[in-house]
Amino acid sequence: MCGIIGFTGRLDAVDVLLHGLAELEYRGYDSAGIAFFDGPAVDTIKTAGKVQILADKVERNHPKNIHCGIGHTRWATHGGVSDLNSHPHTAGQVTLIHNGIIENYMHLAAGMAAEGIYPVSQTDTEIAAMVINSFYEGDPIEAIRKAVKKLTGAYAFCIMFADRPGTIYSIRNGSPLVASHFKDGSVIASDMVALLRYSKDYFVVPENHIVVLTEEAITVEDLEGNQIRPEMLHVSWDVSAAQKGGFPHFMLKEIYDQPEALRNTIMPRITDGMPDLTQDGIPDELFTGCSRVILSACGTAMHAEMLGRNMMERLLRIPVSVEIASEFRYSNPIVDDKTLLITVSQSGETADSLAAIRLVKERGGKTLSVVNVKGSTIARESDYVLYTHAGPEIAVASTKAYSVQVAALYLIAFHWARITGKCTDDQVRALVEEFIHLPEHVSEVLSHDADIKAISQKLIDCHDLFFIGRGLDYALSCEGSLKLKEVSYIHSEAYAAGELKHGTISLISDNVPVIALATQKDVYAKMVSNIREVRSRGAMVIMLTGYDMPTEYGLCEHQIRIPKCSDIFAPILMVPILQFLAYYAAVGRGLNVDQPRNLAKSVTVE
Ligand code: M6R
Repeated sequence: MCGIIGFTGRLDAVDVLLHGLAELEYRGYDSAGIAFFDGPAVDTIKTAGKVQILADKVERNHPKNIHCGIGHTRWATHGGVSDLNSHPHTAGQVTLIHNGIIENYMHLAAGMAAEGIYPVSQTDTEIAAMVINSFYEGDPIEAIRKAVKKLTGAYAFCIMFADRPGTIYSIRNGSPLVASHFKDGSVIASDMVALLRYSKDYFVVPENHIVVLTEEAITVEDLEGNQIRPEMLHVSWDVSAAQKGGFPHFMLKEIYDQPEALRNTIMPRITDGMPDLTQDGIPDELFTGCSRVILSACGTAMHAEMLGRNMMERLLRIPVSVEIASEFRYSNPIVDDKTLLITVSQSGETADSLAAIRLVKERGGKTLSVVNVKGSTIARESDYVLYTHAGPEIAVASTKAYSVQVAALYLIAFHWARITGKCTDDQVRALVEEFIHLPEHVSEVLSHDADIKAISQKLIDCHDLFFIGRGLDYALSCEGSLKLKEVSYIHSEAYAAGELKHGTISLISDNVPVIALATQKDVYAKMVSNIREVRSRGAMVIMLTGYDMPTEYGLCEHQIRIPKCSDIFAPILMVPILQFLAYYAAVGRGLNVDQPRNLAKSVTVE
């Protein structure tokens, strides 16, 4: 939800900002803009549209010798997509960029209007700039301090004051910011990927602290003026991990990253053939002391939890629920000190998931998060965190993050079953033995790329499509359907196969594609019946099955088999197939796969 970057130092600031915005564009691509000190003046160049349109506009303006500036790529919330509503916004001495939402902006705007001051845009951000400017009497820190007392909502700001050339001020509440000082200056951004060209060492800007960036240093102080030294973090992956590496799209590259991502997530947590969470610092009491388990997340991460629930209930025989995070917080949930909330999040910044964590903590429950981004807000606010090691995921559509989330939840289930004696050591060892070989099998699935691409061509022109499955296959269907919708814009629905006949089957007619997931032996016969039901109504069935499932004549138009594995691991081998189908359908329709319309990677607003 908006990407922001600021730089001050010896490098060409315009170049740093435009590169950074290109890296951050996954966070929103409705408009883009930069502001910079050109000598003593602050200049702004902004435009509706993508970063490339901004870059072209900047090129035409030829700013030279620029060493300090801020840049923004927007996912529109308040105010439509227009040049005027693009960031940066200026009010008097203040020019700023913002990621988040100022919830009380109407109230603040009314106060300004009473004094005859009006914004020129429809954004909440311009109101924030006006508020900061109204407190500015030559002391930027004092103005920011006073202004944030008036603002409610989420924000990460980078601010330039016209009479402070070369200096960037920043503060955040809820929205992410990381910063780094390196040999050529100081840089701050919404995500580490934008800093990686300059440094692998960075810190997460602490909430409600004022950060001052100059060429020489970065200082951080709390709202009382006490300077602090934030904890430095180091990224282990290098810049190439955040590049396409020869693939035409990040999504395809990230589908191919899955074997390695799985290996990196699983292998450090296996000791002598058994799951081992000691390096994560997660005590066994977290699991032995709870009687209720809630899994909560959004989108793809929530779909990963659907598989996690199945695995936990299967092995632990305790009730586990999956809650949509945006609903959970408003449902007055039953939480006590024996409740464990497990939150799954790639970005670690999803506002609804974070709110669920805060609510459970408030009510005395324990929280564990499964997160990909180190030092992210969800990771820091949870009692415990288990990091997935997918590396940076840039495509808006989540692919490798999902696989490692499922793997992490399986690992937790195995460990939990072992320490509570719900499974014997031998049973767990057998599960782990198969589990650690999954990355090789995923590679085998990936080698069928061309075959799956050929089948995906059947989907390009369809308007509606259905995914059906039972049990684990139903949970995976939800993810397959989301993936297809978000990148190809083909309407699709995931249905529990047995539920279809209770209404939705009326939508099945000649040549409507139905992707039937049938890898679970215990319900295979039932699935076959459900497939027959749609076949007899004209559906074009693409069937995804286990390696040894019997095929009946005429049951489907196309069949794709996954490598040999136990049924419980089938989703991890099948998901790349669904990702390929979505990817190639979108490519076939000529769409921007990595940046689907209306979406943003990190959803930091409710
Ligand atoms: O960063 P998170 O995992 O918390 O994001 C949650 C969802 O917004 C995310 O999984 C979204 O559904 C995917 N990008 C869709 O591919």
